Amino acid sequence: MKIAVTGSIAMDHLMTFSGKFSESLVVDQLDKISLSFLVSDLEIRRGGVAPNICFSLGALGLQPLLVGSAGEDFSDYRAWLDRHGVETWPVHISQTKHTARFVATTDDVHAQIASFYTGAMEEARNIELKPIVEKAGGVDIIMISPNDPEAMLRHTEECRSRGYDFVADPSQQIAWMSGEQIRKLIDGAKYLFSNEYEAHLIEQKTGWSHEEILGRVTVRVITRGKSGATIHRAGREAVSVNIVEVAKAVEPTGVGDAFRAGFLAGLSEGLSDERCAQLGSLVSSYVVETVGTQEFRFDGTLPQRFEAAFGAEALADVAGLLDRAIL
Ligand SMILES: Nc1ncnc2c1ncn2[C@@H]1O[C@H](COP(=O)(O)OP(=O)(O)OP(=O)(O)O)[C@@H](O)[C@H]1O
Ligand SMILES: [Mg+2]
Repeated sequence: MKIAVTGSIAMDHLMTFSGKFSESLVVDQLDKISLSFLVSDLEIRRGGVAPNICFSLGALGLQPLLVGSAGEDFSDYRAWLDRHGVETWPVHISQTKHTARFVATTDDVHAQIASFYTGAMEEARNIELKPIVEKAGGVDIIMISPNDPEAMLRHTEECRSRGYDFVADPSQQIAWMSGEQIRKLIDGAKYLFSNEYEAHLIEQKTGWSHEEILGRVTVRVITRGKSGATIHRAGREAVSVNIVEVAKAVEPTGVGDAFRAGFLAGLSEGLSDERCAQLGSLVSSYVVETVGTQEFRFDGTLPQRFEAAFGAEALADVAGLLDRAIL
């Protein structure tokens, strides 16, 4: 099964300031604000939703297509993704703009000053899926993850009009999108992913009830943090799946992306909703244990970890897939 993942491609520059921002702010001088903080740490992390999902799919032995827009500065990042099994040829390179960048400084009390430069990501709206699908010799499912909003709408429209199966993953973009835009992004999706909070927001903003949503998408997946995930289909009982517990949760950033990758990998094996979600939980557990979303590596305990959480019968169903995972 060929999977294409559309979404943001970005780098994160994360700095730490030893002190408190609040001690440098002079309230009655805010109109003349000009501050510079001497920071001790700089961490540059590979990010963006689409590469995050692709990286985990690559780790599971799949060769996903990465579809998005980046700048000329993408070459090192491209090499990294190529080495991890991701097909990066569909990435559009902007002639004028840098890759999207999140720059944030956090102080001792976790106050944060941050900026997000969208840059080359804006050009994702110029990407047409059809030539990519043709060059790839066909794509079975296209994921539409957070990205330039125009691009998300265009990709979804194109999938609907050309009859490509698509996964709606509007996630954090839901927060500011209108009900009308959200309706356009999810109507007709084969799968709709969101976390619990976003699930409520979708219903509130679109005015569609949970049942109405199930009439418009084939499968609705809701991730619920430490409570696991639930999978819903019209006329069927919901399926609940637990998390895979880890000894030490280090950083949860990107668990949602990891879950989606595990789930899609299960789909590519033709597995049930339950097994797909269990694979999602498995991949999330590796991400939660490491700082960053593309820094984990599967180890030899992968099958045991799955079995301990979900049992021998479940393991038998996914063993073929886990055998092909990259350790
Ligand atoms: N502490 C944890 N330990 C193990 N697995 C976890 C933990 N938190 C979340 N997960 C797994 O990750 C999945 C996604 O988590 P969650 O619902 O928090 O996503 P999210 O809010 O979209 O996260 P983010 O957007 O920060 O990536 C959960 O369904 C669960 O399987
Ligand atoms: Mg999320």
